[in-house]
Amino acid sequence: MNDLPLIIDDRETPKFWVNRKTMIAQDILDQERAEIFDKCWLYVGHESELPNVNDFRTRRVGGRSIIFTRGRDGEINVLVNTCPHRGMEVESRASGNGRLLRCFYHGWAFNTAGDLVSMPDEESYPDGWSKAERCLPRPAYIDSYRGFWFLCWDTAQKQSLYEYLGAATDFIDLIADQSETLMQVAPGTHLYSMKANWKLLVENSIDGYHAMTTHNRYIQMVTASGVDMKSRMGETGNSNDPAGGLDLGNGHAAVANVDMSGGDYAGTLSRQFPDAEAVALHRQRREGLIARYGERWTNRMLGGRNVLIFPNLMLIDLGMGCTIRTFYPDEPGYMEITAWELSPPEMDDHLLKLRLSDFLTFWGPAGLATPDDVEALERCQRGFRATGVDPWNDLSRGMGKRRPKGDEELQMRTFWRRYNELMTGEVSKPEVEVYRRVVRETAA
Ligand code: FES
Ligand SMILES: [Fe+2]
Repeated sequence: MNDLPLIIDDRETPKFWVNRKTMIAQDILDQERAEIFDKCWLYVGHESELPNVNDFRTRRVGGRSIIFTRGRDGEINVLVNTCPHRGMEVESRASGNGRLLRCFYHGWAFNTAGDLVSMPDEESYPDGWSKAERCLPRPAYIDSYRGFWFLCWDTAQKQSLYEYLGAATDFIDLIADQSETLMQVAPGTHLYSMKANWKLLVENSIDGYHAMTTHNRYIQMVTASGVDMKSRMGETGNSNDPAGGLDLGNGHAAVANVDMSGGDYAGTLSRQFPDAEAVALHRQRREGLIARYGERWTNRMLGGRNVLIFPNLMLIDLGMGCTIRTFYPDEPGYMEITAWELSPPEMDDHLLKLRLSDFLTFWGPAGLATPDDVEALERCQRGFRATGVDPWNDLSRGMGKRRPKGDEELQMRTFWRRYNELMTGEVSKPEVEVYRRVVRETAA
């Protein structure tokens, strides 16, 4: 593989290039696993997925199989899904509820806090052998922020989750504040895969530049519902609040919009509301949020945002729906993606139905946006076969600007600089002023 650097970050010209070997090389993926996925805080799941005592959900986080549970004491646990007897994945179901997680190989049974409770023929174990030493293992750390649970595999991790998230907590607040109780993951999970490198989906999830071309068919559909897209886009830029491409620190980044419409639509990319009832309900919801948080924060909340929590959690809240998306590379050119929809549980049924319909229309695996993105990223991956001829991707859009726009590429450069730091130890200065937490009187 070429000996060229992973990135060229030339502030003079300026230009920003990314080496395509990062997309195709197995040794790079091995290093990413060691330096990124085994060290960073990684998203596990949302608290609303476990409403009842003894609920559990299985998934992979950072390549390892885990069981996300609510124990009988009501506490959240993350257990590693490997039997301490001889290694089998203990729980194979995607979700369920039960007092015991039973390994079907030899019948060891664990409670939802991971304690080994019983096994067949316990008497055969020698004196001094202890069940307490054979619980389901746990990650080094788990913690949550406003219902979003994370783990860290690294016993040497010095940063708490709150420190790790830094100012990105504001962008989680902008989502979590939309419910007076706890935002709610809708039943069902989207599981799909792509023959593409995982970092292409990081870039794509915060890429404002591709919307008009890649998703042209979707934009046509929105326009046909009676929307003037140009004036909508113009409105969102008309604000002094943080908008456009943002560096949130620690590799986290966002593309943010501010809703300056006064409540005319659910989100910049949403269809026209189909009836007067929906408009009235949306305005009513907006008034309720203004009463709680003030107009400024509400306009930011309803404006929507695509947020990257480094390295592989995307929170994409476009007002008309909010998706939680995470993914993990099995191979340099293959990843599996998991996505959920998040809604305020108190939302009126009529609005909620429209929201879920918009969500499926845009983000569904067979919707009008996701298949376009899959096609685009898989074709990038195929294009990388020519890496020997041209090893560089170009991410220079908006470089050198003090306030880059959302359809420029500051947010992606932010990811790549942190990536390069973790992979090579070279520290780079931020390109623009890093976003700082807003002090709010109504902060939750
Ligand atoms: S491997 Fe689980 S009981 Fe033997
Ligand atoms: Fe897209």
